[in-house]
Amino acid sequence: MNAGHGRGEIAEAMAKQAARLSYVSAVQYTTEPAAHLAHKLAEITPGDLSRTYFCSGGSEAVETAMKIAKQVQAMRGFPRRYKIIARRGSYHGMTHGAMSLTAAREEKFFGPFMYGVSYAPPPDQYRSPFELEGEASDIMAAKFVEQEIISQGPETVAAVIGEPISSAAGVHVPSPKYWQMLRKICDRHGVLLIADEVINGFGRTGTMFATEQFGFVPDIMTIAKGLTSGYMPMGAAIVGPKVFEVFESQPDVPMGHLLTFGGHPVAAAAALRNLEIFEDEDLVSRGAEMGVYLKERLEELRNHPSVGDVRGVGLLQAIEVVKNKETKTPFDKNDTFCKVLGQKVLEKGLITRTWNIVHFAPPLVVTRDEIDRMVLTVDESLTEVEKEFASDIEG
Ligand SMILES: Cc1ncc(COP(=O)(O)O)c(C=O)c1O
Repeated sequence: MNAGHGRGEIAEAMAKQAARLSYVSAVQYTTEPAAHLAHKLAEITPGDLSRTYFCSGGSEAVETAMKIAKQVQAMRGFPRRYKIIARRGSYHGMTHGAMSLTAAREEKFFGPFMYGVSYAPPPDQYRSPFELEGEASDIMAAKFVEQEIISQGPETVAAVIGEPISSAAGVHVPSPKYWQMLRKICDRHGVLLIADEVINGFGRTGTMFATEQFGFVPDIMTIAKGLTSGYMPMGAAIVGPKVFEVFESQPDVPMGHLLTFGGHPVAAAAALRNLEIFEDEDLVSRGAEMGVYLKERLEELRNHPSVGDVRGVGLLQAIEVVKNKETKTPFDKNDTFCKVLGQKVLEKGLITRTWNIVHFAPPLVVTRDEIDRMVLTVDESLTEVEKEFASDIEG
């Protein structure tokens, strides 16, 4: 809900559009709001990203991005490039293809998954799997992506996908070098780079899109959530000319994709009004400022014996609770300590997502007082669980 709850002006824009033209088939036609929105997105997305395929949410955006990547590779003369490399710990949605890229996919219920998906280690400076400090760890993580491309065989890889800052993998903020390296690695091997900005986008990380902070432009970017601030289900995959020109040069070959409600005019009207609010209220700067304050306040929680790390950027922040701060021994996601912490936080009135990571992602209109309340709620809840489960905390 990036622009916040209760925005009557978005509701009004939706009602007006619904009364004027509620739907038209997406097979052959577009509508004014969808066309205006595509134009707006071309303006505000990084670099030369400029062509948008609309859909109805994040999972569909990821499906669309994957299909674009595969079809473009085939149309370029590389039909064997069908594999996708994701990162461990990642989340890209729950439709079958998107779930196939999602690390916590449940083989026992839904396997076998989409063929050709493999994983590289994600950036993690807190508990580096390579036992390296700071940026060196991220550089090694990027090298692992290249090794994965090489070991799969570059001639079989269509794309690499990742969230600039992965929420599901624990809100580790990589060094810009990581993404700049991935950009070069993908180019070197003819692999497309997909940035999943479904969570990161629309001011969540202090800039309109997180990619801006890392100094790279993906070939395909997926967006959803903040596009309408949650007022309507809508997502999109956006591509630059390098991808679009492939379709343009072969006009007889349509994209093998169709979503009845993609670019729905009422959703597009909601998105357009939402983005006007972003401009009128300078919400991205506001979110960035509040993000600095949230981070400052969260840092105080490090005094807790169970708080191992505080990390994030903008209004995408997290604390990680650990059994032992010295050794960084993690709590299992489903540990009772984490469950009870989650219950307490909710009982005290804070809606968040708590496992061994407590996530903080309030609307960009959040106030300092509300941030103070959020932090106090977690502070008090931590004190209570640390007392209740004192024997679980070592050191
Ligand atoms: C990074 C990312 N990609 C994709 C999705 C899937 O989006 P949706 O739930 O709208 O299908 C999510 C949802 O949380 C997400 O966080």
